Amino acid sequence: MSILLKPDDAGRTLSEEEISNQVVTLFLAGVETIASASGWALCVLALRPEIQQRLHHEIDTVLQGKLVEMEDLPKLPYTKGVILESLRMYPPGWLLTRMTTADVRLGDFDIPANTAIIYSPFLLGNQSGAFDEPDAFEPDRWGTQTLRLNAGSFVPFGDGPRKCIGDTFSMVEMAVMLTAIIARWRIEPRGTVLRPLERMSLLLTPRGLKVSLSARQPATEK
Ligand code: HEM
Repeated sequence: MSILLKPDDAGRTLSEEEISNQVVTLFLAGVETIASASGWALCVLALRPEIQQRLHHEIDTVLQGKLVEMEDLPKLPYTKGVILESLRMYPPGWLLTRMTTADVRLGDFDIPANTAIIYSPFLLGNQSGAFDEPDAFEPDRWGTQTLRLNAGSFVPFGDGPRKCIGDTFSMVEMAVMLTAIIARWRIEPRGTVLRPLERMSLLLTPRGLKVSLSARQPATEK
């Protein structure tokens, strides 16, 4: 808000309507996306107890029962891996668009200027060949394993000048949320079916899986 309210170098300010539009955009773009990405991570953790157990171990060891601080984040690589894997396999923005501004050759295709292009972070993350065993939810692939990250194959936040303005913020918000929940709760599935898409919709959101939570003590509070 302070940036939006501040005059630019030439002393110009945004109108109230422009500021209001920006705030609405930030809310619209920043709430459901995070909810969906976090929902996917929690569903996967419910279905994969061994991954949840490793996350419990990392969070208990590093945070020792306290809430996460900025300086803790680099010490939580497995947590980050869980978030990145969720975004790779289930990017909330699964279909994105671009308009070509000039004639361009893309792979085997000549595309004229002013063509609408649709591309999918979902397909790029799951079927582009950039990731070994793409069907496996494997948080470790983001750390120790060699990752063949072809430019543009991991784009849950889009890319280029229109890339999500909230990308870094989102990674921090999801880490704060995930560590706070996982430290104090054990998640169990009440079913086995997790459906990505029931019908065409703007966001890829988890459907069909109910989970239950049981309280746990972070390790150092026992
Ligand atoms: C996991 C969370 C999020 C995901 C997966 C996500 C994904 C995306 C994607 C795919 C785009 C389109 C980028 C493109 O076309 O290249 C986008 C745009 C945008 N996002 Fe996010 N987003 C997330 C969170 C947020 C948050 C928290 C905020 C605000 C605080 C935010 C604000 C925006 C805005 C304002 C745009 C429009 C940018 C523009 O058109 O110039 N997003 N986001």
